[in-house]
Amino acid sequence: MELRSAQWYAGQDRNAYIHRAWMRRGTPDSAFQGRPQIAIANTASDLTPCNAHLTEVAGAVAKGVYEAGGIPLEIPVVSLGETNMRPTAMLWRNMAAMAAEEMFRANPVDGVVLLGGCDKTIPSLLMAAASVDLPAVVVPGGPMLTGTFRGVPLGCGTDVWRLSEEVRAGTLSQEQFTRSESAMIRSRGHCNTMGTASTMALVAEALGTVVPGIAGTPAPDSRLLEAAHGTGNLAVELVHQDRRPSTVLGNGSFHNAIVALAAIGGSTNAVVHLLAIAGRLGIDLTLDDFDRIGSHVPLLVDLQPAGRFLMEDFHRAGGLLAVLREVRDLLDPDALTVTGRPLVDHLDDAPIWDPEVIRTRAEPLIAEGGIAVLRGNLAPSGALIKPAAASPHLLKHRGRAVVFDSIEDFHARIDDPDLDVDADSVLVLRGCGPKGYPGMPEVSNMPLPKKLLEQGVRDMVRVCDGRMSGTAYGTVVLHVAPEAAAGGPLARVRTGDVIVLDVEARLIEVDVPAEELAQRTPNRDGFAAPRRGWERLYIDHVTQADTGADLDFLIGSSGSDVTRESH
Ligand code: FES
Repeated sequence: MELRSAQWYAGQDRNAYIHRAWMRRGTPDSAFQGRPQIAIANTASDLTPCNAHLTEVAGAVAKGVYEAGGIPLEIPVVSLGETNMRPTAMLWRNMAAMAAEEMFRANPVDGVVLLGGCDKTIPSLLMAAASVDLPAVVVPGGPMLTGTFRGVPLGCGTDVWRLSEEVRAGTLSQEQFTRSESAMIRSRGHCNTMGTASTMALVAEALGTVVPGIAGTPAPDSRLLEAAHGTGNLAVELVHQDRRPSTVLGNGSFHNAIVALAAIGGSTNAVVHLLAIAGRLGIDLTLDDFDRIGSHVPLLVDLQPAGRFLMEDFHRAGGLLAVLREVRDLLDPDALTVTGRPLVDHLDDAPIWDPEVIRTRAEPLIAEGGIAVLRGNLAPSGALIKPAAASPHLLKHRGRAVVFDSIEDFHARIDDPDLDVDADSVLVLRGCGPKGYPGMPEVSNMPLPKKLLEQGVRDMVRVCDGRMSGTAYGTVVLHVAPEAAAGGPLARVRTGDVIVLDVEARLIEVDVPAEELAQRTPNRDGFAAPRRGWERLYIDHVTQADTGADLDFLIGSSGSDVTRESH
């Protein structure tokens, strides 16, 4: 098989000379003679601290590529750090995907190794790989080690919400709160809860895009480098076998990813990411598939935010393969992985080493742990709730809406002692969807009113068109579609309306007659005014959450065909 890169390097004409000569810099002739050129897409960045160690991982991949006869080419790609980027890293997931896709296609690249970690980095790289359809394999950067504070393990993210609410409730001092920062972020790596980063690493493995058994290896663990080396070997094989995303990934892969997502109690963010990746592949995945396939899958992993433990414990207990072995009968037996073998073939030797952390099928943490898809006159295109992270007593609830038009409006009023709110109220926040914010930030798990916290209230029903951090918990109805800024009914809700939530019936409604709702003027306060550049492009073209919040013109694949010569 002729390599794609041969279209740059083969031959004796002037153009081949130019392509080779500028790449040489000490490289032997053999580098340009039929050896697969493997791009190592590196999202290491000082501004993405969860991924800062990936340059070392890239070095291990490079050794593996070279050992297998390939040529490693480390390339920096757009990196999105979850905690710093404003208004939200999600605003640029599609931009990162588009940039990576275009760079892979424009260059003499035969295959790609994707190094990600922090929330958006694996999804954006998988979207890119799906659209360019070059042989691709992911090395997840791995979670950080468990830090302890005052003798207690701290879960990244999850304990930020808990500790900050303790400060607001007056049970933790500000000084102690600040002192916990270094304990929470103990080492290199991404968040150590079952947040979005951990979820997407594990889901990528269940999809078949990671060498089985690697995802979840802690970032400082030397086994990660060993795995990276082996993945470098595999990347060369992928090219020789012409094993591409379009030949590895099918409906069954997404089925397995959804089963895994439910069994690990993964982040709701995985829904928009999987929908977007499927869209790039032309796979007809819908929001309802998550409920149909996943909602009855038992939750087997006792990790924060739904449970107690952290990713280091999860890895010690056997990792994803041990979980999947328990639900093997629910998996698609034919869905392949990058190894060329079905995922289920990798489950024979995958014992649970600690049944406290990874439960057996006979003793699940929760009998049905998947994400539920709600519909009703408040969310005609759907909304999500993660029952495992919610309070059981609130899963069926009627309450009076207290509506906020923006996150600023929310912050300005939520702690007002005169705010007319009680424990049965439903907090409604709008203007937080893909177009409205823009970027669909993780604000749906609104902090509770201080006066209710002081009364001991720890959860309330909340409804929002934004997302929620995978490390958060609570009875939160999120990803409401269409969003308020796209004309969704959320824009017509008023404070005092009664909101009806019935998770078992998959219902989210506002108890207002249809005619009255239709006559109300949609609220437009608080929506971002579109500006220039990427933000303008994004607002004009982003799809709603129920279809993955991708840009409409990026859905699908352009393939890896080499375009016309540059000289
Ligand atoms: Fe990077 Fe959580 S902030 S993974």
